[in-house]
Amino acid sequence: MPDGHRYPAEQRDAVYRVIAERRDVRRGFRSDPVSADVLARVLGAAHQAPSVGFSQPWDFIVITDRARRERIAALARKHRDEFAASLPGARVRAFDRLKIESILDTPVNIVVSCDRTRGGRHTLGRHVQPRTADFSSVLAVANLWLAARAEGLGVGWVSFFDERELAAELGLPAHLEVIAYLCVGYVTDFAAEPELAIAGWARRRPVSWAVHAEEFGRRGLPGEEPLNPLAEVTAAIAPPDAAAMAAARERQDRMTKPRGSLGVLEDVSVRLAGLAGSCPPPMPEPACVAIFAADHGVHAQGVSPWPQEVTAQMVANFLAGGAVVNAFAAQAGAEVTVVDIGVAAELDPVPGLLPRKIAPGTADFTASPAMTREQATAALTAGIEIARDLVAAGNRCLITGDMGIANTTASAALICAFTGADPAVATGRGTGIDAVTYARKIEVICRGLELHRPDPADPVGVLAALGGFEHAALAGFILGAAALRVPVILDGVIAGAAALAAAALAPDAVTACFAGHRSAEPGHAITLEYLGLRALVDLGLRLGEGTGALLALPLVQSAARALRDVATFDSAGVSDKL
Ligand SMILES: Cc1cc2nc3c(=O)[nH]c(=O)nc-3n(C[C@H](O)[C@H](O)[C@H](O)COP(=O)(O)O)c2cc1C
Repeated sequence: MPDGHRYPAEQRDAVYRVIAERRDVRRGFRSDPVSADVLARVLGAAHQAPSVGFSQPWDFIVITDRARRERIAALARKHRDEFAASLPGARVRAFDRLKIESILDTPVNIVVSCDRTRGGRHTLGRHVQPRTADFSSVLAVANLWLAARAEGLGVGWVSFFDERELAAELGLPAHLEVIAYLCVGYVTDFAAEPELAIAGWARRRPVSWAVHAEEFGRRGLPGEEPLNPLAEVTAAIAPPDAAAMAAARERQDRMTKPRGSLGVLEDVSVRLAGLAGSCPPPMPEPACVAIFAADHGVHAQGVSPWPQEVTAQMVANFLAGGAVVNAFAAQAGAEVTVVDIGVAAELDPVPGLLPRKIAPGTADFTASPAMTREQATAALTAGIEIARDLVAAGNRCLITGDMGIANTTASAALICAFTGADPAVATGRGTGIDAVTYARKIEVICRGLELHRPDPADPVGVLAALGGFEHAALAGFILGAAALRVPVILDGVIAGAAALAAAALAPDAVTACFAGHRSAEPGHAITLEYLGLRALVDLGLRLGEGTGALLALPLVQSAARALRDVATFDSAGVSDKL
């Protein structure tokens, strides 16, 4: 019997149960003391953790002294405040409601440390990967956490510390590192789900997203066909919920205001309800703008007065917080994420940058397809995954942003390919070009269309022939949002071109799209009409980055807020029109 060593069913169930029911506990601690016996059992379980080369690098510091815990709580409070100050508006409000430590609410705190030098040089495994010492101490934490749950003890992990500050308070020798600060005590209740999930801060990712067959990217559970994210999202995208839309319309008519007086915002609220499948719909916040940045081979044709390096330079500016998109995002309370999907430069890893480079820029579409089908699919998939991850991280509204010198050329080419528009009509002046460059831009687009003869029934082929990596990724981003039924506010002509590709792949994806603004680029008006979308803001903007969409964010949020908060004639006792 290969499974002869298996535990009896009841014991197995107990193991899986303790894993499923372990919770990070922050509130509802009781003041009852934890006996020395119970603590010793839990620490004994921690001490049985696996460790690299059997080095057992952990130590456990058990803290009960009130004065010490007060000093440590003050250290955590300082970092909590610093973190709160770094958050965008909607996140600050959500974070304020979260409890992130129970240092003083619990009778015992336990620090787990790591000695990376323990055992000397012969420690098996650690010589190539020094981090394995830390991993070993983390496994001791996991054992402790599970054993504590079995004992009915809650554990909360606090990481709002400067590690050296905390080490000094604990008298740790310099060669020891703090791995975990744990607050331990009996509780009134264990929540069924992570508290951060209950609070709407983040969601659990499906296990199938995390399991890959043989190679990274072939996602799927054992025994199942590998998932194809593109096929999966296009299959998941469905029409809006008619009942929720009818309920929203009906509620708008009963709200204490003349019927129809909120104009286009009434339609926005109805669409939000249809997308969410509920009336009123959830508030579209927190919101996050994802700026997809990439370079374009067609730049070599002289279609833009700006050098290609500006793409990478502007990425650095977004990350430093110095661009218009940062100012507008700060004003609207949205987070900014930058995605390197194909910038023709090496970018240093910094917080806020998602490194997803498919290649350093596309090929020149006047000479060959801009990208291979595989590259187009990879960029689409990256966009889908970014949308999923941002929603799993708690965002309830996604906003498209883009950066790529020469990307209005690729956008116009895509718009012509998908809508059949004439390049002479659909092409605009982008960042501002003279008549000679403008004529060349139109001619370059005509040559591209002539060379590839793109078939709009093959959207991946169209993207590969003429698009940019940011267009393909943005199309995936829109599809990912639509599959999760989260609204996505489109910026200007680049997002519009991407939305045409998304709609060609899954027509109902448009259900999730809200046209943030109408760009000055002529191709954008053609696109919006083709998609049946009405722009919320029309201010002659032609910047990109996500700026126009961010201006529309408060409008979309106000539309949802009105449907949620405004009283009805009957509830408020206001007389309706006769
Ligand atoms: C390395 C690590 C550090 C953590 N730091 C904190 C923290 O500073 N404050 C907090 O409230 N929770 C902290 N947590 C708890 C997580 O938020 C929690 O594990 C997660 O939300 C999942 O919930 P669950 O543990 O109940 O399944 C930490 C967890 C880990 C693994």
